[in-house]
Amino acid sequence: MKKVYIETWGCQMNFHDSERMLGLLKEQGYQEVDDPREADLILFNTCSIREKAEQKFFSQLGRTKHIKKRNPYVKIAVAGCIAQQRGENLKERAPYVDFVIGPQNITRVGEVLEYDGGVFTEDNPRLADIDLPAIRKSPVTAWVNIMYGCNNFCTYCIVPYTRGREQSRPVDSILKEIEELTHEGYKEVTLLGQNVNSYAGEVSFPGLLRLINEIEGLERIRFVTSHPKDLGRELAEAIGDLDKVCEHIHLPLQSGSDRILRLMNRKYTYMDYLEKVRMLREAVPGIAITTDIIAGFPTETEQEHKATIRALKEIQFDGIFAFKFSPRPMTRAAEMDGQLPEPVRAERLKEILSLQDEITEKKNKALEGTIQEVLIEGSNQSDPHKLTGRTRTNKIVNIKIDEQIPAGTLLRVKITEAHRHSLDGVPVSSTD
Ligand code: SAH
Ligand code: SF4
Ligand code: F3S
Repeated sequence: MKKVYIETWGCQMNFHDSERMLGLLKEQGYQEVDDPREADLILFNTCSIREKAEQKFFSQLGRTKHIKKRNPYVKIAVAGCIAQQRGENLKERAPYVDFVIGPQNITRVGEVLEYDGGVFTEDNPRLADIDLPAIRKSPVTAWVNIMYGCNNFCTYCIVPYTRGREQSRPVDSILKEIEELTHEGYKEVTLLGQNVNSYAGEVSFPGLLRLINEIEGLERIRFVTSHPKDLGRELAEAIGDLDKVCEHIHLPLQSGSDRILRLMNRKYTYMDYLEKVRMLREAVPGIAITTDIIAGFPTETEQEHKATIRALKEIQFDGIFAFKFSPRPMTRAAEMDGQLPEPVRAERLKEILSLQDEITEKKNKALEGTIQEVLIEGSNQSDPHKLTGRTRTNKIVNIKIDEQIPAGTLLRVKITEAHRHSLDGVPVSSTD
């Protein structure tokens, strides 16, 4: 049997691409190994969203040079967004790389045995029409692609250049995949797309949710990521009405300043965003809302940064991902005048994160004593006497148990203590 070592960075989409590439490689007789020195194929699935992500990959890649020196037969393949962005250039920079495979060409991974090397970065407008096998890590919760690419060209973002234009998967193939997953015992699906709510298959995105909600055996439906500009009442109502759709939305705000939002090409104002939050909270009582924020976008003034701080206080998100602005090749924001010095970006990020830490903790504390439905994903990695799972609102819960409970069980859990990044709980019987 041939052996593959795979390492993945980046978003859920990229992790799922790795599951798909493993699925393809398994069909070719490959088995996954944990040690790159044992591998016949070393596959890096990379992310270029921020400079730091890129640096991490290059330092890891550097290490494989020695492996190749010792074992000249090992093949090294670089997939994902850095592969697409750099193309041929990657092989010039690291001549020991054999294959460069962009995200639209992951099917080519099945062919790597047939060639000595190659660069596969051409556009693939039929990506959404191909059904690919997958080796999934979790037996309970599964990622399912519903669309690929992005047409939005936010001025800071490299994704439209690495993932190409939007393509929606046909409804039938999405439904078929989810039906098969539920037959295998999966309880939860997370629908994936850079912009799931601009899904444009035979039905709209809320229409797709309605169809998936009918699938027997499925318990929960999640989706990432939503763009505020495409979020309408129909989606808010679908989340509220459909019993399987979980009460959580990740809705990236990026900034609380209208001038910065305009410079970012986000196509909404802060007031528009606030209106969507109101609509969601009205249609879906108890909905958890999480977001992304960029600190220190070019030309951002101290006052505009404070607008973001005010927004966090006003909206009270359940959680955020915040990042320092990082200039990316090909993007307009990287070329703008008024780039802020690193210490300013770092300082603003720190302020954002420490404020949100307080808010997240306060929101989690409010859950102490409540009873939550938790989908058990498995035992806790650091303590085998605990199970771990998530609430419908996507909060991680660690549960003390006396008896083993299989992964995939829906459990009623009383929250005993809240922390910043997780909750503790105990099971309650249905009569409690
Ligand atoms: N498609 C998703 C997000 C994809 S990238 C969406 O539109 O919401 C995930 C997050 O990374 C973005 O929401 C943004 O906050 C951050 N990000 C993207 N490019 C960045 C950059 N150049 N510098 C800093 N953060 C960035
Ligand atoms: Fe990037 Fe904007 Fe597209 Fe999200 S919507 S992937 S931030 S360009
Ligand atoms: Fe990274 Fe590409 Fe995802 S840049 S965040 S792996 S779309």
